[in-house]
Amino acid sequence: ELLNELKTCEDIFTVSDETSRAVVKHFISELNKGLSKEGGNIPMIPGWVMEYPSGKESGDFLAIDLGGTNLRVVLVKLGGDRTFDTTQSKYKIPDGMRVTKDREELFAFIADSLKAFIEEVFPDGVTGTLPLGFTFSYPASQDKINEGILQRWTKGFDIPNVEGHDVVKLLEKHLKEQKIPIEITALINDTTGTLVASLYTDSETKMGVIFGTGVNGAYYEDVADIPKLEGKLADDIPKDGPMAINCEYGSFDNEHLVLPRTKYDILVDEQSPRPGQQTFEKMTSGYYLGELLRLVLVDLHSKGLILKNQDMTKLNQEYIMDTSYPAKIEEDPFENLEDTDALLKKDLGINTTVQERKLIRRLSELIATRSAHLSVCGIAAIFQKRGYKTGHVAADGSVYKMYPGFVERAAEGLRKIYGWTPGPIDEYPIKICPSEDGSGAGGAIIAALAQKRIAAGK
Ligand code: BG6
Ligand code: GLC
Repeated sequence: ELLNELKTCEDIFTVSDETSRAVVKHFISELNKGLSKEGGNIPMIPGWVMEYPSGKESGDFLAIDLGGTNLRVVLVKLGGDRTFDTTQSKYKIPDGMRVTKDREELFAFIADSLKAFIEEVFPDGVTGTLPLGFTFSYPASQDKINEGILQRWTKGFDIPNVEGHDVVKLLEKHLKEQKIPIEITALINDTTGTLVASLYTDSETKMGVIFGTGVNGAYYEDVADIPKLEGKLADDIPKDGPMAINCEYGSFDNEHLVLPRTKYDILVDEQSPRPGQQTFEKMTSGYYLGELLRLVLVDLHSKGLILKNQDMTKLNQEYIMDTSYPAKIEEDPFENLEDTDALLKKDLGINTTVQERKLIRRLSELIATRSAHLSVCGIAAIFQKRGYKTGHVAADGSVYKMYPGFVERAAEGLRKIYGWTPGPIDEYPIKICPSEDGSGAGGAIIAALAQKRIAAGK
């Protein structure tokens, strides 16, 4: 019976080539809808970055990056010759901060971290004000580059009174109160930052993507092909230039038309603070992969098929297994998965048989492979929509950087969609490349571009 269940999991978690192609096709129509006046599931947020970086931008800029797990503060020195140097500090987002009831706590934490960083890197004080690019990795609407009205929290954040507000203003209040000499010149999404930072060093870059706590992508669209901007562009803004778009495609298929959702995906959605939202993200991103694995294990246990007579108290807790669990389990070098044995014993208080551990490893593989194969559908959709046959996709995020085998599986997912002949992944027409520290540097480059535009009176 256990074998039957495993077979079922193999079936429901495997994405066929046909399904991937159907997903891509529907993706393209949702991307277009997002750019149209009617809107749709995918927000397609104009990022007000209206030029490609030339690589000549130069100067010192600060960037902060509120990601899924950490707040990073970065001092970026743009060399003006397609190179940059960064000095950075990471501050772990304190436990409980994601769901604090007091929004001021979050913005005070960001301001405090900035203050500590400035005192460290400018021990003699700062002359004038420092320009700052604020990378805010949540869907935020912008009518200009230095504002961001949070549409809705994603990735498990749930802090009241921020949705519907301009996060630039919320942070500025604390900067002012603490007399921190900083001017927020740009608010950007992490995907836009990744796109622009990579383009600064690699002109083949077509997209910036994150495979991390969340899943999302950004690219440059022609302003003329963004019907919803009609009437919103000031007279001095060129109507024939590019515009960076933060797709927010984690919300793809919220209508549940094409994604092969399983009963476990439905459970993840129902127990989340925002049911019905981020359907694509909930099947693919790091915030959810460990939880999906946990749900399958709890289900198999409740059917009496695994972990008999084990104390399930811990495993029954939602989100007790983050994505580092399946990652470590897949990484276990031992034939009998001794590392996994120790991990499950120590953290979850359960004893497993070798057979059970092999099953858990196989389930991890299935869930993570599905994530890779589905997440690249967003890439294929943008490439096909834009008519790009080749190019680089700059990627960042914990799943991309840390999950074993993710890079190869993502390339394989693209290969299957396009039907390329198997070969070295570096030789595929669409190449996913690491964008180390992209969004910090991206924030700085975009701040530089914004400054230039302001100086030019646009
Ligand atoms: C980091 C980027 O490397 O990855 C951030 O600098 C981004 O901008 C983050 O938000 C995404 O990954 P994760 O796993 O932290 O969500
Ligand atoms: C979530 C956020 C999005 C971000 C992505 C990756 O999808 O809504 O803004 O880009 O995670 O961090």
